[in-house]
Amino acid sequence: MVEIAPSILSADFTRLREEIEAAERGGATIVHVDVMDGHFVPNITVGLPVVRSLARASRLPLDTHLMISEPGRYAEQFVEAGARMVSVHIEADPHIHRTLEGIRKRGGLAGLVINPATPLSALDEALQFADYVLVMSVNPGFGGQQFIPTSVEKVRRLSQTIRERGLNVRVEVDGGVDTENIGRLAAAGAEIFVAGTSVYGKGDPTRAVRDLLNAAVQLV
Ligand code: DX5
Ligand code: ZN
Repeated sequence: MVEIAPSILSADFTRLREEIEAAERGGATIVHVDVMDGHFVPNITVGLPVVRSLARASRLPLDTHLMISEPGRYAEQFVEAGARMVSVHIEADPHIHRTLEGIRKRGGLAGLVINPATPLSALDEALQFADYVLVMSVNPGFGGQQFIPTSVEKVRRLSQTIRERGLNVRVEVDGGVDTENIGRLAAAGAEIFVAGTSVYGKGDPTRAVRDLLNAAVQLV
């Protein structure tokens, strides 16, 4: 099932409720929230108070992408704050099994995130404890960056591994996703598509989400 998760990083922060509703009218089913600490990545964004407010403002499930050092200290708090999905970078956490279990224990869906330069083999042990994997198709930290084309192949190999191992793990992609590459990513096995600039950068988020959904089902 194809799902579009607009990233509010590229939305107007003074009108988040309306921005989310506009994307929802186009068929968006998840809201992606980028949490950055200025340490794990060179940018600072939003944290728990914003997640709490968004959980009250929208019925859509919140997908919090933690780009923070020591995610194990905070991951469960994001579930408590109202996030349905919480993802943690494999590069940031030496005790990621414990963190994933903590997210699940609180009733959240646990995600593993992998940076462009990290090989898929880094996920081998932890994969079975995750509900989804978020494949970064840009280096995390900023919206509006260029899609790294080798990500399509990475998604394909990951999806194949998940199938071969008989795991129930969904694949999400984040970074530079647009109508040009979404069809290839879907064909490679991705199901959840984060989109910031391609949803909020053109002035009509409703239409932009619709265009992405249409492009995703057109196999290339
Ligand atoms: C990047 C973030 C992304 C970002 C995507 O570090 O994880 O979620 O908002 O933005 P676009 O779609 O513009 O690349
Ligand atoms: Zn993200």
